[in-house]
Amino acid sequence: MKVTVVGAGAVGASCAEYIAIKNFVSEVVILDIKENFAEGKAMDLMQTSSLNSFDTKISGSTNDYEKTANSDIAVITSGIPRKPGMTREELIGINAGIVKSVSQQLLKYSPDVILIIVSNPMDTMTFLTHKITGIPKNRIIGMGGALDSARFKYRLAEALECPISDIDGMVIGGHSDKGMIPLTRLATRNSIRVSDFLSEDRLSQVLNDTKVGGATLTSMLGTSAWYAPGAAVSALVHAIACDQKKIFPCSSYLDGEYGLNDLCIGVPVVLGSSGIERIVEIDLDESELVALKDSADAVKKTNDLLSDLKI
Ligand code: 2OP
Repeated sequence: MKVTVVGAGAVGASCAEYIAIKNFVSEVVILDIKENFAEGKAMDLMQTSSLNSFDTKISGSTNDYEKTANSDIAVITSGIPRKPGMTREELIGINAGIVKSVSQQLLKYSPDVILIIVSNPMDTMTFLTHKITGIPKNRIIGMGGALDSARFKYRLAEALECPISDIDGMVIGGHSDKGMIPLTRLATRNSIRVSDFLSEDRLSQVLNDTKVGGATLTSMLGTSAWYAPGAAVSALVHAIACDQKKIFPCSSYLDGEYGLNDLCIGVPVVLGSSGIERIVEIDLDESELVALKDSADAVKKTNDLLSDLKI
């Protein structure tokens, strides 16, 4: 199993590290446009292999897509991250052109590859990849919901003062501060609804902290986060590479599911060896459906900007 990670910045490197360290694929190729940067990251990571006991072979390349040939899965992290005060949507002008050319180059050498999109605005970049590549929709997966759900679980465990392993919860909708929908009604602590433990006020604080999870870290770090995004990607890659049939909320192309059409947005999906094997339609209540519709409208507005950019 060969995995390519495009972009050797903080997110790409941590994603390559988590994939390698879990030892479930034979090869990881990291690519970057900056001369020798991916090669350096790959060498540094390889020098941890005896210490961290993994056999994954990691190599780096300066933008030579031939080295990515026959990848089974490719992760696109390329583009610029946001700076404090910026929204993910503001990155579209630069990132759209980059994601377009990266996905085309990847497909040239790996026509059957499954693509995982991380670059922001993530739902729109996933939609763009869908439109320009024309490959089956099961092979294009946007990472956002997996990350947002991890942040949601973190905030729930913090509020409940319990181990995260006790928590189950999911965030659907767009990967944006306003568009995320942490499903507080369905979240549980060891099968017990979290609302049995937390007041409405505390729960709404958890919801708000989750929604601004990325922005909070961006203001603390001066750039966007990388450990949790990298770990979220590696969990998706793991589910696909090992045909786990796990459910994650991922940005997926919708064709009538949840009453939505012609956009990519976060919904629960089953991930296995062919990528998105099934979109799971859960029973949302009235307010959750309204929130999903509003989130979809916002994602579509950002998608519309692609035509102004003539991408
Ligand atoms: C985040 O930290 C990378 O969008 C990303 O939320």
